[in-house]
Amino acid sequence: MNQESSSGLECPKPGWFQAPSGNERTWIGMAVIWCLILSVMMPYWHFRGKQNSTGEAYRVKPADFVKRVEAFVKVNTGEESLVEDGIAPVVPAPPGEVYLLAKQFFWFPVLKLRSGETYRLHISSADVQHGFSLLPMNMNFQIVPGYDHVLTIKPQAPGTYHIVCNEFCGIGHQQMVGKIIVE
Ligand code: CUA
Repeated sequence: MNQESSSGLECPKPGWFQAPSGNERTWIGMAVIWCLILSVMMPYWHFRGKQNSTGEAYRVKPADFVKRVEAFVKVNTGEESLVEDGIAPVVPAPPGEVYLLAKQFFWFPVLKLRSGETYRLHISSADVQHGFSLLPMNMNFQIVPGYDHVLTIKPQAPGTYHIVCNEFCGIGHQQMVGKIIVE
């Protein structure tokens, strides 16, 4: 076979390969060991690293989710719809399904939950993608319209927890705060 190609490039001569040795061998070894460590750490940290729960997610039309939130608020307060208000806290009876709506630019409603009780918290968006960040806990979730994100939560300590939107969602993004009260 002709070893000279038309472009002038030459094929390497047979027997060109030499096993790495010395420093090159050490560096390749370190890189392989580090790859193995990271490969083990990924599943390990998923289960043991106290990561945010992945929760559950179900498809839902944004308009239907808004209706569910309104129904939830009505059952628990007797009010028709407070979507434009967002101030009066809703006190759902535990254990149960609890709803939280993200909308430009508020979280609705304010929830009042009982410490030590278990709730299934449904969160979704009426419009665009928002970020649910619960302070001072380090809890962060992406809230995507069209999906009902369900988190099973059990509040442990009484207090007022603030919800901050941590995904840029428009001109009023920085005002998008909400509240969960635990008593
Ligand atoms: Cu909602 Cu930023």
